[in-house]
Amino acid sequence: MIDPINKRRSVRSYSDKPVEKEIMDEILKAGLSAPSAHHKNPWEFIVVTNQETKEKLSMATPWSSFVRDASFIVAICGDPSSDQWVEDLSIAAQNMVIEGFANNVGSCYVQIYNIDEHNGKLPMQYVKEVLEIPDNLNVLFLLPFGYPREVLEMRSDSRLPVDKLHFEKY
Ligand SMILES: Cc1cc2nc3c(=O)[nH]c(=O)nc-3n(C[C@H](O)[C@H](O)[C@H](O)COP(=O)(O)O)c2cc1C
Repeated sequence: MIDPINKRRSVRSYSDKPVEKEIMDEILKAGLSAPSAHHKNPWEFIVVTNQETKEKLSMATPWSSFVRDASFIVAICGDPSSDQWVEDLSIAAQNMVIEGFANNVGSCYVQIYNIDEHNGKLPMQYVKEVLEIPDNLNVLFLLPFGYPREVLEMRSDSRLPVDKLHFEKY
């Protein structure tokens, strides 16, 4: 397996060292390089470095608190009028995550779409208000990026769920 796929783990603890602008640009370029159905490019990526906004985003769901410590956050948004918006946004997001790990920058998906009310508000509505996202767009994930505070153990081959593989027929 290529190194960044092998090294990828959900990184939820980030060092104070900011991610360099050149590396951030490479991560964003990786998102923009993703394929999309009918080449519709239904994604919109909102890059957040402002600490106050990061703090607000960290309160979006019960499972998002750590994003406040990220060097930057990308809100993965998209246009649901495209039938494959979830697929297209997911592929673009994974491109960014893998590009991050190729540069030793960690990340972790934070689900926003289809998450139940938290503090009296749907997480997607909350994020849309914080980031002033137009009504016609959805927010699928937040992707926080930062140098890992600790290097997480790589997944060992012996723990791969190989029972999920089927050859020729189920
Ligand atoms: C679509 C998706 C949504 C996720 N949402 C969250 C989340 O909201 N908060 C969180 O801490 N982790 C989230 N995760 C991370 C998973 O919990 C993690 O990928 C899984 O436990 C496997 O661990 P690993 O990424 O280290 O291999 C999400 C992962 C995916 C793929």
